[in-house]
Amino acid sequence: MNKDPGCEKQEESDTLQGRIENRTFAKNFFMRIDILTILPELMESFFSHSIIRRAIENKVAEIHLHNIRDHATGKHRQVDDYAFSGDAGMVMMIEPVDRAIQALKKERDYDEVIYPTPDAKPYTQKIANRLSTLRNIIILCGHYKGVDQRVRDHLVTCEISIGDYVITGGELAAAVITDSVIRLLPGAISDETSALTDSFQDNLLSPPVYTRPAEYKGWKVPEILLSGNRKEIFKWKHEQAVRRTRLLRPGLPDREETG
Ligand code: ADE
Repeated sequence: MNKDPGCEKQEESDTLQGRIENRTFAKNFFMRIDILTILPELMESFFSHSIIRRAIENKVAEIHLHNIRDHATGKHRQVDDYAFSGDAGMVMMIEPVDRAIQALKKERDYDEVIYPTPDAKPYTQKIANRLSTLRNIIILCGHYKGVDQRVRDHLVTCEISIGDYVITGGELAAAVITDSVIRLLPGAISDETSALTDSFQDNLLSPPVYTRPAEYKGWKVPEILLSGNRKEIFKWKHEQAVRRTRLLRPGLPDREETG
């Protein structure tokens, strides 16, 4: 690897608060995500529900699924081949992936070509915030042992791991990235400020939430939340968030520096 394909670039207004305050970003913002996959059907159902579907209907975002196999040649439209190293497992070939990417690039410029892979830096809210400021991104879903390294060296601009475990293909990771980015777009969720209070936006986990009934089987909602005292409630929520973060994710505040 001769470049750092990390995705933490661009410092200006990469907090969600900063972006929402930036009117030029919020006005008529529209994001296009092109996903390259060998399993477009698998992804279709995911994007036809809830917030993502609404964001698409509200013209906040467009998601286009492309079958990499459509860019493969030969009778079997092969997209994978044996590893030169002789190791077990197939490798995704460069030709169909390159053709798929070039076909898209012919139509428009892309801000990032993202490759979800377990051997990358971990995905964070900070990266999601930054990606949500971009106009056009490609997400390339890997399969088998991964893609030919030349794809990563020459075509991919940003690599993301969604956690220290391995899943079968990049589709679920692409869905995670897409969901986390689209929910941040202005107009994607009805109460925009709700995204501001998500876990991780201040490098803090969210405080606990409650709804009616105020008492169930003797289990009570904390008194303060029923008091109507907004200032005290705000203070309580912050204390809870700090407590939870210290208990469950004591290293979290440091992650801001590492991205
Ligand atoms: N593909 C397989 N495992 C993955 C992971 N942990 N993160 C991103 N992409 C992956």
